[in-house]
Amino acid sequence: MRLFATSDLHSDYKENFNWLKQLSDTAYRDDALIVAGDVSDRLEIVRETLLLLRAKFRHVLFTPGNHELWVRGEPFDSIEKLKRILDLCEELDVTTRPLRLDDVWVVPLFSWYDGVFDSEKDERTARLSWVDFHVCKWPEDAAPLPDYFLRMNEPHLKTYDAPVVTFSHFIPRSDIFPPKEYLRFSWLESVSLCAGLDHQIRTLKSHTHVCGHTHTTFDLVIDGVRYIQNAVRYPRERTETSVPIKQI
Ligand SMILES: [Fe+2]
Ligand SMILES: [Fe+2]
Repeated sequence: MRLFATSDLHSDYKENFNWLKQLSDTAYRDDALIVAGDVSDRLEIVRETLLLLRAKFRHVLFTPGNHELWVRGEPFDSIEKLKRILDLCEELDVTTRPLRLDDVWVVPLFSWYDGVFDSEKDERTARLSWVDFHVCKWPEDAAPLPDYFLRMNEPHLKTYDAPVVTFSHFIPRSDIFPPKEYLRFSWLESVSLCAGLDHQIRTLKSHTHVCGHTHTTFDLVIDGVRYIQNAVRYPRERTETSVPIKQI
């Protein structure tokens, strides 16, 4: 069984959905796919996309990104939306909890970004323009958000009887980011970094961690752990060398 990774499918873009549709219907029947968040904010598109992937792969493992937790005109908050997404995954036999494959455990990790800004100006700009601040609705008991999400992982922080691969939507380390001048906007790290994740990754003795969210491609080793992002991204962001899934 091979293990593949992807993230940020954003399949509400027809081009992206069709790109995934083109994946072979037979080549991955014995394989597993990690989807590290950001399929869509619309439940019916999440359903359609996960169903498509379930038909191609033996196992699909998923953790929600920020887009899944947007609530626009829906009569519930983002934590209720999270529950609905997890219920949908259960219904579709998409795994959101640790799963043992042949010779590896794959452990999904919930996360949310720390939201620490370098300056008040950056924070003001982000609060005006970053969509999460307008369409995520949080109950009071979910604060602080990174702690709320990381606490959900605690039952799974244990010793496993095979090597461990972990994945999250958000980025676990500051040193994964390129210098600020190369970022889409200077405060990207403030809405992407969940620093508490790396402690959990190391507690689990994970050898490889897959993440998403920043729509950047990387595959690097830091202090003995391999960090990978293979984001599908928005159609306008893709390059000729983009691949929808990457074997790890
Ligand atoms: Fe994304
Ligand atoms: Fe994201």
